[in-house]
Formats: sequence, C-alpha cells, structure tokens
Amino acid sequence: MIRGTLTAVRPATEADVDMLVAWHADPEVARFWDGETFTREEMRERLARREVDPYVVERDGAPIGYVQAWRSDDGGGGLDMFLVPNARGAGAGPDAARALATYLRHEDGWTRVTVDPYVWNDAAIRAWERAGFVTVERRPPDDEHTSSWLLMVFDGQRGASGERRA
Ligand SMILES: CC(C)(COP(=O)(O)OP(=O)(O)OC[C@H]1O[C@@H](n2cnc3c(N)ncnc32)[C@H](O)[C@@H]1OP(=O)(O)O)[C@@H](O)C(=O)NCCC(=O)NCCS
Repeated sequence: MIRGTLTAVRPATEADVDMLVAWHADPEVARFWDGETFTREEMRERLARREVDPYVVERDGAPIGYVQAWRSDDGGGGLDMFLVPNARGAGAGPDAARALATYLRHEDGWTRVTVDPYVWNDAAIRAWERAGFVTVERRPPDDEHTSSWLLMVFDGQRGASGERRA
C-alpha cells in the first residue's frame, strides 16, 4: 500500500477484474483511453503483464480509480491513470500520482517517471503539474498516441502535495 495525503494506491488483483472491466466500459473513461474497452479475459491478461504494474487508487477505503506504471528498458517508465467520473476534480488524482511517482523514484529505483497527456487534455495537464510533473516537450502522434501529446517528467520538488491550488 502506497499512501498519499488523500489517497492510497494498492496493487490491482484478480478480485478487481469485474470492477475494472465495468470502469473501462464507461464512455467517460474510455474516451480518455483511446476508446479501448476490455473483456474479463483481456483484463486478466492485462493485470498479468510483466512490464506494467497495475494499481487501484482508493480514497477513504473505497476504490476510485486505476493507475498503471509501465517500465521501459532505460530504468525509467511512466504512469497512466484515470479516476471514475464522480471522483474527479477533488485532488485525488494528483495526490495518488505524486505518491506513486515518489515511491517509484525513491524506493523502487526508477531513474525517471513520466506522464504523457494529450495536448487537448487540459484538465490532466493541470493535474500532473499539481502532482509535480513538468513539461519537457510536445511530441507528435506515434504508435502509442493517436494525437499530439506532452512528455512530462516527475520532479517531486514541484507542485503542491496533492492539494488544489488557487
Ligand atoms: C486526470 C485525472 C486523473 C486528474 O485527477 P483529478 O483528481 O481529477 O485532478 P484535479 O482534482 O487536480 O482536477 C484536475 C482538473 O480536472 C477538472 N475536471 C475534469 N473532469 C472533472 C469532473 N468530472 N468533475 C470535476 N472536475 C473535473 C477539474 O476541475 C480540474 O480542473 P482545474 O485545473 O481547472 O481546477 C482525472 O481528472 C481523470 O481521471 N480524468 C480522466 C482520465 C484522464 O484524463 N487521465 C489522464 C490521461 S494522461
């Protein structure tokens, strides 16, 4: 269990499969996940991927979102996250991202932790800035991205610790 100020992040397990399938089936989640949805079998396979660690975000003991940490060959990697719609806009996403990125950088030995929001996703870009990520550059669409995106790198010195800033 990785603890933030508002949230906790715990490994996703087989017991979460039905919940995760239902979350991804919600158009308000899928539209941020390149329209992808998953069957239960596909979700089981996703949870077992070697290079991607799946986590559930909790607030007050209740599951409110999903975050995955994917490792690249260079010792670093990145985060992908969504919260269920009614949990958004209350600082939980930045808090969970900051907690997980801090753990990966300082306890799990990652050399770098990134996020890769689409340039159109202003809300996510602001959330990642609150979490302590800074924009490095704008990149064009590629195999993993259907439109232009920002490469943002975690710098734990920056941003408010999960709190909303005026
Ligand atoms: C991105 C995300 C994880 C950020 O977590 P969060 O807890 O909502 O972050 P914050 O509380 O800092 O809110 C970020 C912004 O989202 C806005 N927002 C987006 N959707 C919202 C909703 N349904 N309800 C309320 N606010 C919402 C907030 O108002 C805030 O805008 P502001 O910067 O003008 O104040 C979360 O909004 C989310 O799951 N979004 C959809 C999936 C997504 O975009 N994932 C990131 C892909 S890179």
